[in-house]
Amino acid sequence: MWDYSEKVMDHYRNPRNVGKIDDADAVGSAGSLTCGDQLKIYLKIKDGIVTDAKFQTFGCGSAVASSSILTEMIIGKPVDEVRKITNKDIADELGGLPPEKMHCSVMGYEALEDALKGYVDKDDLNEALDEIHGAQKSHAQEKIVCTCFGVTENLIWDAIKQNGLTTVEEITNYTKAGGACGKCKSIIQDIIDTYYHKEKKAEEAKSVLSPAQKILKINSIIENQISPELQKDGGDITLVDIDGDKVYVRLRGRCSGCKNSMLTLKSFVETSLREAIDKNIEVVEVN
Ligand code: FES
Repeated sequence: MWDYSEKVMDHYRNPRNVGKIDDADAVGSAGSLTCGDQLKIYLKIKDGIVTDAKFQTFGCGSAVASSSILTEMIIGKPVDEVRKITNKDIADELGGLPPEKMHCSVMGYEALEDALKGYVDKDDLNEALDEIHGAQKSHAQEKIVCTCFGVTENLIWDAIKQNGLTTVEEITNYTKAGGACGKCKSIIQDIIDTYYHKEKKAEEAKSVLSPAQKILKINSIIENQISPELQKDGGDITLVDIDGDKVYVRLRGRCSGCKNSMLTLKSFVETSLREAIDKNIEVVEVN
């Protein structure tokens, strides 16, 4: 027996906004009956605000609860805000879902995304046509990874990104991909590896400072960390210049008259800057 929150049980027993909107402005679906879960969501949108939302679902209690709470989350909200809702937001709003049931929140997210992909803003026809063409193009380009459940590469990518998933088992819990014949598991593993490889590269790129960023960071560390420390003992330090890895500093107050103190200080400043910025930094004292 799964451990459900009270909110899940409430929405399962008393689902809100069940049904169909005949003149809906946007309709989206996710899942399929052959996969055991299906959700269809209908939206009424006026002046960029979701004024009504209804759903029809075939699935377990978590699917009903996820769909029900999703309609409550979006009614009255601007479309731009609704577009930002993730499966994690849906699960959080329910007070959490068992890991094996997270795919129900993903189904809500997917159906909502599908509805808004096809949504046409009647006040701006040109923009809408561009959006439709873009949506059709991206839909056509989507690659199915798991043929048993019709799960696309984009959906797996989104699930990893939004929920920090790291294993194939977690992907199965969140999207169902890999949960039947298992033939797609190696591809799912490749997607996970590619995602984290790219993320690592992005982090590394972020940590490489441009020359201007390096100067600002050195200045900030000297002013905000090293100088206050020295002032406690009646000394101080001023940044004079930076040339490549060489950082020229001037000592003031008590520090400037003491050779031993200067050597200790140089080492202290150098260690601080090397640890925080670049191991090649060399500190040079000037008069
Ligand atoms: S192809 Fe994914 S489980 Fe069969």
